[in-house]
Amino acid sequence: MAKKPTNKQEPETTGHEWDGIREYNNPLPRWWLWVFYATIVWGIWYVIAYPAWPLINQATAGYKGWSTRANVAAEIEAAREANSEINARLASVDLEEIPTDEELNTYAVSAGAAVYRTWCAQCHGSGAAGVKAGGYPNLLDNDWLWGGTLEDIHYTVAHGIRNEEDPDARWSQMPAFGDILDSEGIDQVVNYVMSLSGEPRDAAAAAKGEAIFLDNCAACHGEAGGGDIYQGAPNLADAIWLYGGDYDTIRETVTYSRFGIMPPMGGADLSEAETRAVAVYVHQLGGGE
Ligand code: HEC
Ligand code: HEC
Repeated sequence: MAKKPTNKQEPETTGHEWDGIREYNNPLPRWWLWVFYATIVWGIWYVIAYPAWPLINQATAGYKGWSTRANVAAEIEAAREANSEINARLASVDLEEIPTDEELNTYAVSAGAAVYRTWCAQCHGSGAAGVKAGGYPNLLDNDWLWGGTLEDIHYTVAHGIRNEEDPDARWSQMPAFGDILDSEGIDQVVNYVMSLSGEPRDAAAAAKGEAIFLDNCAACHGEAGGGDIYQGAPNLADAIWLYGGDYDTIRETVTYSRFGIMPPMGGADLSEAETRAVAVYVHQLGGGE
């Protein structure tokens, strides 16, 4: 049987005893106690200084008035302050001057990219390649409905297209030919439109469609189908399609027409500097005329 180790000198006890278990009177080390007291003092100071106790609508504010939200607001304000001079310049110079001023241009392209991600990507796609199913045009190519100069793009962005909000919005309306042409005539003109980019479904029908096209469509789309940027009428001969270039889609376009709407982005949503920045950004994406 192992012997229990015995202490010659029994340590002092506090005198408390429970079922024969006695409590030694071993004081905590000094350093530990001081750290402990320091955390209490620090805790009380923290509760007074910073937001701490949750109340019904918000936490106690703390005398330092600190909040993450105020920090963000201050950072945004600082960034605005830092950019205010260049923004003022961007908003006031002649539009054509921007691409020739390297500092202004570099700033506009990067600020414009940020505006684009926030305000345009949901319709035109994050890469600006457009979304055919919705009639959202590709902004990367050099095919423009309404013109691709910086001035044209700026106007489109500022006022939008076919919207009710802005009286200066770009406007035009293709008639619905379902009420104007019979089914055979629509078939022929659709085939003719396809032949403009070299893909008629039925060459004989396409040949008959030419006269219908010249009578009904050329006023807007041009005699050779090259489109008209003053009416936002797409080029039909370049195999670049806003809504789609297969027979069924073109037939649907001709029968029911289309009415692509873009909201005005200038004014309420974007400042003049932001409108210009995003126009410069879109202009340099590749297709800028
Ligand atoms: C609610 C959807 C929507 C938003 C948001 C939107 N657009 Fe558009 N945008 C359209 C549609 C639809 C068209 C084509 C209208 C038409 O058929 O003529 C268009 C056309 C354009 C055009 C004309 C393209 C051409 O070929 O002439 C430009 C440039 C353009 N958008 C830029 C922008 C920019 C820049 C923004 C962000 C500041 C933006 N859009 C935001 C829907 C949108
Ligand atoms: C009053 C002018 C006008 C006339 C006339 C007109 N169009 Fe259009 N057309 C437009 C406009 C504007 C659009 C663009 C609509 C939009 O962006 O929502 C368009 C779009 C189209 C498209 C879609 C192109 C694409 O890229 O997806 C086709 C196809 C088309 N028209 C064919 C015709 C044919 C065929 C006729 C004659 C039977 C015709 N249009 C007559 C103005 C016209």
